[in-house]
Amino acid sequence: MRHSTIRQLEVFEAIARLNSFTRAAEELFLTQPTVSMQIKKLTDDIGLPLFEQVGKKIYLTEAGKELYQTCQGIFEHFSRFEMAVSNMKGLKSGKLRLAVVTTAKYFTPRLLGTFCQQYPGIDVSLKVTNRERVLERLTGNQDDLFILGQVPESIDAVSEVFLDNPLVVLAAADHPLADQKNISIDRICEESFIMREPGSGTRMATERFFNDHNKKLKVRMELGSNEAIKQALVGRLGIAVLSRHTLALDGPMGQLAELNVEGFPIERHWYFAYPSGKQLSVVAQAFLEYLRHADDYLEDLSCRHAISGHCPLLKNG
Ligand code: PGA
Repeated sequence: MRHSTIRQLEVFEAIARLNSFTRAAEELFLTQPTVSMQIKKLTDDIGLPLFEQVGKKIYLTEAGKELYQTCQGIFEHFSRFEMAVSNMKGLKSGKLRLAVVTTAKYFTPRLLGTFCQQYPGIDVSLKVTNRERVLERLTGNQDDLFILGQVPESIDAVSEVFLDNPLVVLAAADHPLADQKNISIDRICEESFIMREPGSGTRMATERFFNDHNKKLKVRMELGSNEAIKQALVGRLGIAVLSRHTLALDGPMGQLAELNVEGFPIERHWYFAYPSGKQLSVVAQAFLEYLRHADDYLEDLSCRHAISGHCPLLKNG
């Protein structure tokens, strides 16, 4: 095993955790042949197979299970060492690993911009993925801090609200409902609806809202990205419920309208979270403190107008 590299162990750990070569390749920004090659080398060094494939599923062999446990120990020691070193350096340098849900990408990079201006030596890595995967990363203690909607009670984590996240009904600016007031939920259910993918927090909150009102949406299409949904709205494929944050950069010539629908916006919030008992690095603590004032930092930025509920750029907004 002395020939195995940390990179190979990283690749192995990601496959074992995600139960998939494809997802591991995606997460590590590698191609699938590279991932397979790394595992082949590692398997050759160890001299025993690490995975077995039954049908389309992969399982860890006994040797694979042992190695997975060993990897977890190694990476935990590494991250403790990294933290100790970065704490010694204070806020002059160090690493901040963030994982945020897809919709939080509309404001997190802006917040990071001002934070990094204050602490230029800090090296930031930002993982953007949907709610389900962020929850997996939170449970696996894979990053320093997480930004998402409310954390389920079944997960042992510390979390705190730091920003509002209103979910609104959007349509093309020239949609027949765009000029109407107090549109009923029944009327919305007559329209073709474009829904986020399973695992999305926006989808979860939307489904809960319509279920709570005993109403059924006419879902015409599922799309895995807020931007793709906005394009579909402009293409008049239907209407959708999205966070008002998704409109952050849409200028005065915006091609979307926020519909005035009874019961909307759905009041959702952004939380930062980390696993209970996790020792936060000095850098993570500084960012957490910074997030507590996110509202003030966003105040100066143009996107603040789009999320305040009085957006001059939106019809009815
Ligand atoms: P999503 O999460 O980007 O996965 O939809 C947003 C949310 O939880 O509100």
